Amino acid sequence: MNVHITGTGSGIPARLVANGELAKTLDTSDEWIVSHTGIRARRIAGPDESTATLATAAARTALARAGVKPEDLGIIVLATSTPDYGAFPSCACLVQRDIGAVNAGAFDLFAACTGFIYALETARSLMLRDPRPALVIGADVMTRIVDWKDRNTCVLFGDGAGAVVLQASDRPGGLRDSILRADGTGSQHLVHEGGCRTPESGPWQKATLQMQGRQVFNFAVKAFDETVRALLAREKLTLDDVRWIVPHQANIRIIEATARRLDIGMDRFYVNIDELANTSAGTIPLALDQMIREEKLHSGDTIVLVGFGAGLTWGGTLIKW
Ligand code: UT7
Repeated sequence: MNVHITGTGSGIPARLVANGELAKTLDTSDEWIVSHTGIRARRIAGPDESTATLATAAARTALARAGVKPEDLGIIVLATSTPDYGAFPSCACLVQRDIGAVNAGAFDLFAACTGFIYALETARSLMLRDPRPALVIGADVMTRIVDWKDRNTCVLFGDGAGAVVLQASDRPGGLRDSILRADGTGSQHLVHEGGCRTPESGPWQKATLQMQGRQVFNFAVKAFDETVRALLAREKLTLDDVRWIVPHQANIRIIEATARRLDIGMDRFYVNIDELANTSAGTIPLALDQMIREEKLHSGDTIVLVGFGAGLTWGGTLIKW
């Protein structure tokens, strides 16, 4: 049995905030943000938008494109770090309710910016036991947990959700191989407090994201490079066989540094950080959806998805489209 992505969708807030708007209230500039990160704008969720609403919008489009009815879904796996509620109900259950996936199980998965990679492999594995279609979502409203006074971090993030539908078939290809990794010894480099470990930080909504940017940057380049090499070695492929690398969009300089390490051109990487910034678990499925709409993915293309982020976590998936 092979598992294919048969539909994709995006849920993006209406409000676009360009760097210049941030520079009105923060000691920063469009020039600094573009030159250090590649980001020009981000979407910011409005009062009526949340992780669940963006995820639901993405899910509806993905299901329609796949031609799958909500009631035919067997499982919904939603990767997020910013669920609508502190612990429960899960965002996946809110999506399940709103799309009417009456026969599906649903749960959230926490692996920060690597969440979509973890969710994809989790759903694929579950489909080996129950081959009904699966819905996999990466969704975050990071702008609700950043410290808007900290220019080192708040300029980096945006809000958005991407969804994919997985279907089993005999058609060759599909999700071929995955690597999931973690190193909790680096957990202090990227932290959002507010869980029961730190009750003094109050309700989770009040806690803000703390990041040691340089350490995360160095980790990301190494993890990115190693994941691509390991996946290709396992599949006995070379970089020449790969049409696209679709990375987590955290910083254009992480992608450029990896391109140099792998000795390949930037034209092999799909990049949309300039307009959406870092939407955490959302970046990879949002990129996939945009690639489909731009007709950049063709049957038979080999692509490698790579995620990395808090935990520390990292991983990749090799797909024959
Ligand atoms: O999804 C995974 C999560 N995160 C990441 O992947 C982020 C990884 N890290 C990064 O992307 C980069 O480390 C940053 C973009 C966060 C920082 O870039 P950098 O080139 O490492 O800058 P820096 O931290 O070394 O800061 C350089 C200077 C500092 O000023 P001084 O100390 O040299 O006077 C900062 O205060 O830039 C200053 N700075 C800013 N200036 C204007 C930091 N943020 C800003 C800003 N605007 N927004």
